[in-house]
Amino acid sequence: MANISTPVIELRGLTKRYGVGDAEQKALDSIDLVIEKGEFIAIMGPSGCGKTTLLNILGLLDRSNDGEYFLDGKSVENFSGTRHARIRSQQIGIVFQSFNLINRLTVIENVALPLTYKGIMRTKRLKQASEILKNFHLSEREYYMPWQLSGGQMQRVAIARALVNNPSIILADEPTGNLDSKSSHVIMEELSDIHKRGNTIIMVTHNPALTTYASRVIHMLDGNIASDTKIPIEFKQSTTKIPLSTHQTEAKPPKKPAKKRKTKAKKK
Ligand SMILES: Nc1ncnc2c1ncn2[C@@H]1O[C@H](COP(=O)(O)OP(=O)(O)O)[C@@H](O)[C@H]1O
Ligand SMILES: [Mg+2]
Repeated sequence: MANISTPVIELRGLTKRYGVGDAEQKALDSIDLVIEKGEFIAIMGPSGCGKTTLLNILGLLDRSNDGEYFLDGKSVENFSGTRHARIRSQQIGIVFQSFNLINRLTVIENVALPLTYKGIMRTKRLKQASEILKNFHLSEREYYMPWQLSGGQMQRVAIARALVNNPSIILADEPTGNLDSKSSHVIMEELSDIHKRGNTIIMVTHNPALTTYASRVIHMLDGNIASDTKIPIEFKQSTTKIPLSTHQTEAKPPKKPAKKRKTKAKKK
């Protein structure tokens, strides 16, 4: 039975193998991990170390070969695909590394899609989608097709879609990966708000500056957890002053970050 002290996620000896025989490789090598409700976890590590594999399993999109996965204290490894889908639609929001938008649907229809699985009526779905698109400064793009958007806009749509059904767990695979500094800020501020409302966020990132939003930073290496560090709250005061996209500043320096931040704060 779940209670206050039950971790939202617990992994015991979680192992994922790819390939067979000589070609066998452990993408995840007996991972033990406990995640409490309300944590904001940043996962870092070199390409190929297993970050996406881990998120896919946490998001019930893939299954491990060995070990156990407890979600809210319940072992979910052996649940059916249908049951996994139901848990996803009620509890988990996933932001993929590639946006995974559906090209034949408009922006607003893409965002409203997860609500379909919850059985919400169309008018209400579109209203909710429209609401969340506002947060991402995309109201004017509601009836665009995905291919008419910039990369940054597509990613914001993908994130809006992941958040539209108010998931309590958000899994994000490099949500600001290809974005300029301004778009990164919009997304990180939104994730930060969601975190402050008590939800759990697990975000893969290559950008060390983004870890300032996190309450815990996990480094992975070769399918293992190499380090796991909780960040004390007093350390996090200066969060928003740190430039978000160190790797992008050359291409697109943020013009007046201080002023923009003020505008955003005032709006709230
Ligand atoms: N579908 C797959 N089939 C075979 N090997 C895979 C598959 N997905 C991932 N891998 C392998 O598992 C390892 C971890 O991959 P991944 O989780 O994508 O790493 P990361 O997200 O950290 O870059 C890599 O060596 C990758 O080649
Ligand atoms: Mg990856």
